Amino acid sequence: MTKNYKDMKEITKEDYIRFVEENEFVIIEDVKVKLNKNWDIKSYSPPENYTPEKTTVWSFPDRGSWATHKGNYRGNWSPYIPRNLILKYTAKGDWVLDQMMGSGTTLVEAKLLERNAIGVDINLDAVMVALDRLNFSYNPLFPKYSEPIIKTYWGDARNLNKIEDNSIDLIATHPPYAGIISYTKNKKQSDDLSQLPLEEYLKEMEKVAEESFRVLKPGKVCAILIGDTRKHKYYVPIAYRVMQVFLEVGFILKEDIIKLQWNMKATRERWRAKEYEFYLIGHEHIFVFRKPEDEKEYKKYKFSIKWWKDG
Ligand SMILES: C[S@@+](CC[C@H](N)C(=O)[O-])C[C@H]1O[C@@H](n2cnc3c(N)ncnc32)[C@H](O)[C@@H]1O
Repeated sequence: MTKNYKDMKEITKEDYIRFVEENEFVIIEDVKVKLNKNWDIKSYSPPENYTPEKTTVWSFPDRGSWATHKGNYRGNWSPYIPRNLILKYTAKGDWVLDQMMGSGTTLVEAKLLERNAIGVDINLDAVMVALDRLNFSYNPLFPKYSEPIIKTYWGDARNLNKIEDNSIDLIATHPPYAGIISYTKNKKQSDDLSQLPLEEYLKEMEKVAEESFRVLKPGKVCAILIGDTRKHKYYVPIAYRVMQVFLEVGFILKEDIIKLQWNMKATRERWRAKEYEFYLIGHEHIFVFRKPEDEKEYKKYKFSIKWWKDG
């Protein structure tokens, strides 16, 4: 039986303005996130000593707080991550997609870097946070800045029905991991992937991978950040399982980047690690997958594609 996933619904700036008239904040997981900020922006870019990453190990001890970036959306990614991906894989005017955009970190970076962008989230409150973070005007001194098109949708990453085939230049997204942070604990939301047990999660991530493959232009890349967990004191390699799901639908593996973790929230885990003598998980993976231009590429890159046989 095929499931019916929610269709994409555009949420506009007018919707956001109406929402903030009635709501001063939203609650994401257990954290109150204030809306309608009168942003006092000190800087629109990373510190001057910033240079794009050159290796497959990324580490951002200072997560980045330029423009409207704030670390108070549980599980949001450092703006350095989408910045690096956007600079490496796109040009001005290209289309970037984050179909699990959360607080909209990727979209804020797209706006600053003059890339058009589409953001989607299953949680309407998250879409409002993203619109709140995008609610700033940017008038840089360099004369040629042209305001990109940024669209935000309430929808499901498994059904990108308003996005055409072969239309996106870069996907940069950070899916929730099976059962780690529940983004919609307060409002029970059955479409929230963070609430699924591992095997079911992987099945649903296959839909996310298929949709990513469909909307991406041939030759372009899809980058995802994904971490692992521990169960009964043993390591659960969620990231590699998700990598397999993306290879399964036809992607080619271009990069496996190790991202070091700095703010490990779980003091409980730290305490347990000491008690049970296992290592604290201190890294996540950023996989960069490429959609091939044609079938011939599967032969050329045969060591970077799905290696297992079905059945
Ligand atoms: C790790 S967070 C993304 C954080 C984001 N990168 C940021 O910087 O704020 C994962 C997001 O996926 C969303 N999500 C969960 N299931 C989804 C689904 N089926 N479709 C779209 N979004 C989903 C959650 O609501 C949450 O906002």
